[in-house]
Amino acid sequence: MLPSVLQPNATDHVPVLAEQVRRLLDVQPGQTVVDATFGAGGHAALLAEDLRGEGRYVAIDRDPTVKPYFESFRRRAGVQARFLSGDFADVLERFADNGRNADVVLFDLGVSSMQLDRPERGFSYAADAPLDMRMDPSAEMSARELVNQASERELTEIFRSYGEERYARQIAKRIGRERSRQPFETTGELVEAIKSAIPTPARFGEGHPARRVFQALRIAVNDELGALEAALPAALEMLRPGGRVAVISFHSLEDRIVKRFFRSEAHGCTCPPDFPVCVCGREPSLRVLTRKAVRPTAQEIATNPRAASARLRAAVKT
Ligand SMILES: C[S@@+](CC[C@H](N)C(=O)[O-])C[C@H]1O[C@@H](n2cnc3c(N)ncnc32)[C@H](O)[C@@H]1O
Repeated sequence: MLPSVLQPNATDHVPVLAEQVRRLLDVQPGQTVVDATFGAGGHAALLAEDLRGEGRYVAIDRDPTVKPYFESFRRRAGVQARFLSGDFADVLERFADNGRNADVVLFDLGVSSMQLDRPERGFSYAADAPLDMRMDPSAEMSARELVNQASERELTEIFRSYGEERYARQIAKRIGRERSRQPFETTGELVEAIKSAIPTPARFGEGHPARRVFQALRIAVNDELGALEAALPAALEMLRPGGRVAVISFHSLEDRIVKRFFRSEAHGCTCPPDFPVCVCGREPSLRVLTRKAVRPTAQEIATNPRAASARLRAAVKT
């Protein structure tokens, strides 16, 4: 019997933009699907259904606590399914180096509902818990180390660029002052420091005052943008011609990386625009299937508020 926190829970499985992902990836029987962000297996259940009993499902996640969800998926998948624990950038690069192929690769980025809803993981500003935020609990650096060890300048930069936090410098300064008395240990202590660093009216503005700083720390702790930058070329290399890749992102920094990568691979040629003829000879390797990012409907957002910021882009390997 699994401890209750590890029991798959019905509400963990609400996959974002599920029908749109399914339509764009167009999974066919016999294919190999790589799900780079398995989570609770919500998308996996739908994509495996489209394999109709023939094919292979490779699930990746850097959070080993998703394993019970995978076991439950594997029992019902009806196809050969395998779980690989690790950063998708490392796993996909290894696959690509070893000449492994896939027909479909899906990335559903960011944190899962189970990670957010389990206070002990330290992702949420809504509960007082150890300051952690590691998707992979064995990773070296947690939010606690980052908050207590990064310089004020580094923290300012993190809050500003990953959280678009207006009061980044003030918050970093306040953290610097407080940690010189006593290091930060909990999310609650950090929330209090953020609140006291920003002007009173801003505490009651757009959402929770700690939301942007928490998002920024999470992105930095898990090197989310670095992993995505490294994983996209590896995914492309693995794909068979005609294979498809889809990415669901939850903030503009991620979406920009995907958009630029797709655009550059769909363009091919890297010669400077003033060259009269192409000398690089680079051919397009992707055809973009989503001219604009696909957004959730108002109805989906009403039933699953976490879908609100989702953007989906997909492409097919030429
Ligand atoms: C939004 S959830 C995926 C939810 C899943 N599609 C579903 O329907 O249940 C994102 C998952 O990706 C994992 N993840 C995020 N970044 C990762 C990375 N760089 N490598 C491996 N897993 C990652 C997280 O641990 C989390 O479990």
